[in-house]
Amino acid sequence: MAAPWLEETHVQPSILACDFGAFRSQTVDLLDAGARAFHVDVMDGHFVPVITFGPQVVGAIADEIHARGGTVDVHLMVERPEIHLAEFARAGADSCSVHIEACPHLHHVLGSIHDLGMTAGAVLNPATPTVALREAARYADLLLCMSVNPGWGGQAFIEATPERLRELGVMLRPGMGLQVDGGVGPATITRCREAGANLLVAGSAIFAQPDPGEAYRRLVDAVAAPAT
Ligand code: DX5
Ligand code: ZN
Repeated sequence: MAAPWLEETHVQPSILACDFGAFRSQTVDLLDAGARAFHVDVMDGHFVPVITFGPQVVGAIADEIHARGGTVDVHLMVERPEIHLAEFARAGADSCSVHIEACPHLHHVLGSIHDLGMTAGAVLNPATPTVALREAARYADLLLCMSVNPGWGGQAFIEATPERLRELGVMLRPGMGLQVDGGVGPATITRCREAGANLLVAGSAIFAQPDPGEAYRRLVDAVAAPAT
């Protein structure tokens, strides 16, 4: 489903990196700082080794985010994501992104996400050739280029990413978003923006900082600054 945020530039806080004892108040802090597109990393312990959280966590923050005109963007790092989609939609997810590596029937899964009224994203792991998303780009609303291996926050940015973003950029139809996720911070965010990514997910570069709201605003300023 097309949506205005897909065409805008957003620094997206990834709540994976937040303080879980305070994740609702940290979400509000980020809303106060201006963030409107929140990224929620769901991991199942199978597709990736780590287990994180499910629809209940989406439900705990969705109302607050929606009340401020924001978007809940769910990144599903799970096997068989199709069996969970309705629950995420009910919990308040606006968007669900699924990995091509987890979906042999990606066309069908993207259609199911649309049928539930959500934006549909297709995600690529770092070693999957970008051409693998060429067909999915006909049906998805956003393409997500992983710039680290999925499963953990705080990893180093993979240097091939800007080149991969440019390759994905030529596949975009009008209204689609190009997202990058992993290792995005002060040292890398400008290169990602210049390579065409407009949805810039940042976890530790925001939440591992002394003042997450201030760290968010600095990243926004970095992508807003004209290229030199
Ligand atoms: C990794 C997740 C990312 C993660 C990024 O599997 O998909 O969204 O939160 O974390 P940082 O920004 O710390 O690399
Ligand atoms: Zn993610």
